Amino acid sequence: MAEHPAYPVGLRLSGRRVVVLGGGQVAQRRLPALIAAGADITLVSPEATPSVEAMADAGEITWARRPYQDGDLAEAWYALIATSDPAANTAASAEADRHRVWCVRSDDADQATAWTPATGHSEGVTVAVLTTDARGRDPRHTAAIRDAVVEGLRDGTLVAPHHRTRAPGVALVGGGPGDPDLITVRGRRLLAAADVVIADRLGPRDLLAELPPHVEVIDAAKIPYGRYMAQEAINNALIEHAKQGKSVVRLKGGDPYVFGRGMEEVQALAEAGIPCTVVPGISSSISVPSAAGIPVTHRGVAHEFTVVSGHVAPDDERSLADWPSLAKLTGTLVVLMGVDKIGKIAETLVAHGKSPDTPVALVQEGTTAAQRRVDATLATVAEVVRAEEVKPPAVIVIGAVVNVGPSPAA
Ligand SMILES: C[S@@+](CC[C@H](N)C(=O)[O-])C[C@H]1O[C@@H](n2cnc3c(N)ncnc32)[C@H](O)[C@@H]1O
Repeated sequence: MAEHPAYPVGLRLSGRRVVVLGGGQVAQRRLPALIAAGADITLVSPEATPSVEAMADAGEITWARRPYQDGDLAEAWYALIATSDPAANTAASAEADRHRVWCVRSDDADQATAWTPATGHSEGVTVAVLTTDARGRDPRHTAAIRDAVVEGLRDGTLVAPHHRTRAPGVALVGGGPGDPDLITVRGRRLLAAADVVIADRLGPRDLLAELPPHVEVIDAAKIPYGRYMAQEAINNALIEHAKQGKSVVRLKGGDPYVFGRGMEEVQALAEAGIPCTVVPGISSSISVPSAAGIPVTHRGVAHEFTVVSGHVAPDDERSLADWPSLAKLTGTLVVLMGVDKIGKIAETLVAHGKSPDTPVALVQEGTTAAQRRVDATLATVAEVVRAEEVKPPAVIVIGAVVNVGPSPAA
């Protein structure tokens, strides 16, 4: 049976009876894809792992809590045989043969009439990799090939040039805090398919160097804005390029909606009738502290974290933050855009009740090669920032979580 290569085919199992024998690790791994395929699944097994049991509890599968018995495979279209009893597996396999039911066997691929490929998905395509014969089966090899293909499709290094799917209009992509590995898979894929990228100063700048030469990269900070406000100029650039039928990515630092003016761009695009998709990003407010060894919450230490903008001083009439209330919170305060105003901020927090000894950490250029962390307290932070020449961009963490990690200073 194994001398010929397997014939690859995609089974359309929606509403069709599929029988799974055995409720262990194999079933646990295979069931999600069968459920996703819409199969009408019956699991036959006296026991099941907690995850498999949860699928039964959720009504995703029907569970017959007993061992396999002859007749279980009647009317099935497909069977997965994975019990821990070799005799039951052999008997079930023979029954599958009698009923002409394609079956996979976890214990003996050579005796199976079907093999499960290593599968992955990207952008509406399923990648399935099979070995050519059962004796030469090396699941790690097929999984590695699957991973390489899926990863290539996701990051755009594997693109069929004439068939690439372009997102129409504009994608507002949260690029994460700076490390190019910290953008989402979707963001990276959209970036790889873009004609024009309008990028902020913050975010994963290194990814821009990987873009093919035909991609026009525009530095948002350098868009000439004449009598316009900078944001209006950026909005107009997005609209103009999209109107030319181009696929435009607006690459932003962190998450587009965390002090990122993302919604202003979404609104401007909506008014211009340009389709827009928003891809969330990893915000620096959480990831930069994390990269410096600071958890924004910690059991028994902080039950809340609050992210606040420090771009205007607490006594500035434009400030929307209620600093006296923030001073009363017991959890973590994360201040973005606060380096210039940290003296005033610390003073205000102390004036409204925070201890001057409250630990403070400033993490500059987090997740990049230039990352550095400077520690202080509310009493000393203004002086420390001056002495250490801390510069933006930096995330400032205020609270006891600063000291919970194994080595607070870096
Ligand atoms: C205009 S806000 C944008 C925040 C962004 N949307 C986010 O979710 O991370 C810019 C501020 O984010 C913080 N920031 C962003 N990236 C950073 C990084 N890699 N290291 C330190 N701070 C960063 C700094 O406080 C900076 O002044």
